[in-house]
This record gives sequence, structure tokens and C-alpha cells, in this order.
Amino acid sequence: MRVGILGSGLMGGKLGTIFARAGHEVIFSYARSQQKLSKLAREGKGKARPGLPREAAQEADAVLLAVHWSRIGDVLNQTGDLSGKVIVTCSLPMNDDNTELVVAHTSSGAEELAKRVPGAQVIAAFNTVPSEVLFGVFEARGNPARPSLVYCGDKQAGKHVAATLIRDVGFDPVDAGPLRMARYTEPFGLLVGQLAYEGKGGPELAYRFERFGK
Ligand SMILES: NC(=O)c1ccc[n+]([C@@H]2O[C@H](COP(=O)([O-])OP(=O)(O)OC[C@H]3O[C@@H](n4cnc5c(N)ncnc54)[C@H](OP(=O)(O)O)[C@@H]3O)[C@@H](O)[C@H]2O)c1
Repeated sequence: MRVGILGSGLMGGKLGTIFARAGHEVIFSYARSQQKLSKLAREGKGKARPGLPREAAQEADAVLLAVHWSRIGDVLNQTGDLSGKVIVTCSLPMNDDNTELVVAHTSSGAEELAKRVPGAQVIAAFNTVPSEVLFGVFEARGNPARPSLVYCGDKQAGKHVAATLIRDVGFDPVDAGPLRMARYTEPFGLLVGQLAYEGKGGPELAYRFERFGK
């Protein structure tokens, strides 16, 4: 599929590279330097190219939104109308110094985003793992015991697209239900971040849910 990357930093740069290596057409957009977008496109090694946010969004089957919470308004101003688009967001609603969620409990970043783009299908995904683990998960995708990745959203078609991308990265997609479940997945992302960055063993951390009993 065609995937537009809005925010080509730690998450967008790596996920876009993986999507391209998995065979998708990728447009990298929204970084502070054009050279960075061009380099990412070269290193994607597949059908990847740099572009403007408008091109990344308008030509895409799915858009990955991977910017800081404070940049959401700016990037949405540059994409044009996103009605009908599948927006996979990994963005967490963090304050400026990334110490706290500014939306939580009674709403979530994903729900607030959905209010800003009412015609789009917003899916929250990739927000519960650190960027450092992504290439490792992709390289290990042939192993039978894949790490889990929770995602949620209100529209089945968009969720199907997100699950495909999640699987292509090497995770086992875990459908957490409607978009309001982002109220739980977003703080969970902070827990995983705490374990990754402050725990023992380094940031290349993923998680796996297992069921026991019948
Ligand atoms: N990093 C993680 O492990 C992680 C995990 C889970 C969720 N998240 C969430 O994912 C989202 C993205 O995080 P990230 O770590 O990937 O952030 P990041 O590395 O800072 O990437 C943000 C992207 O936005 C671009 N950008 C920022 N200001 C801009 C401006 N004024 N004009 C144009 N481009 C601009 C940056 O450009 P440059 O490339 O030039 O800097 C970068 O490409 C955040 O909401 C974060 O909370 C991150």
C-alpha cells in the first residue's frame, strides 16, 4: 500500500524505512531538513521518496502521524483535507518536556485527534513501544513468538489497514477495541517507556501477552 509519513523522526523515520523494506510505497515528510527526508528515502531501499506533507497524505492509503503533540496542529495545516483517510497515530499527548500526558483518563490523544479530523479513520498504534526496538522486531519477524502490539480504533476498515502494517513490522497485532481504549494504551506506552529507558537492559524492549488456561 501507499503510506505517507507525517513526522520523519525516531518513530516515523524507522517505521517508514521498515514499511518500505516490507514492500510498501512510502513518502517521508515533515522534518526540519529536506536532506534528512531524502536520506531516509534512499535508505528505505524500496519505493520510498521524500515529499511534502500534502503529497504524503493525499496520495496515501494510510498516513502515519508521528510528531510531537505540540506539532499536530502545524502538520495538519499542511496536509489538506484528510477526510476518508486512515490515520495511524503513534503520537502521545505529552507536554513540552515530555514528562506528562496532557490528555488522559477522560479522553486520549487519539480521541482528541479524531475530533480535529472528523472524516478520517483514526487508529492508535505503535504508541506503546520505543523506537529503539523497531528494527530488531522487523529482523526477528520470522520467529514464531512475535511481540504483541496493541491498537485501537472505531472503523473496521482502518483497523484492518493498521493491523496489516503492524504485522509487516513483525508484531502480533492485538485489537484493544474502540478508539476510547487509547485512554489505556497511551499511559501503557509511558510504562513501557519507563521500563525501556529507566529499567535494566536497555531500550530495545517489546512486550508479549500470553493467555493461560482454557
Ligand atoms: N520515540 C519513541 O520511542 C516513541 C515511542 C512511542 C510514541 N512516541 C510518540 O511518537 C511521536 C513522535 O515521536 P519521535 O520520538 O519520533 O519524535 P521526533 O524524533 O522528534 O520526530 C518528530 C519529527 O517531527 C519533525 N519536526 C519537528 N518540528 C518540526 C517543524 N517545526 N517543522 C518540520 N518538522 C518538524 C522532526 O524533524 P527533525 O527530523 O528534523 O527533527 C521529526 O522528523 C511523539 O508524539 C511521541 O510521543 C515516540
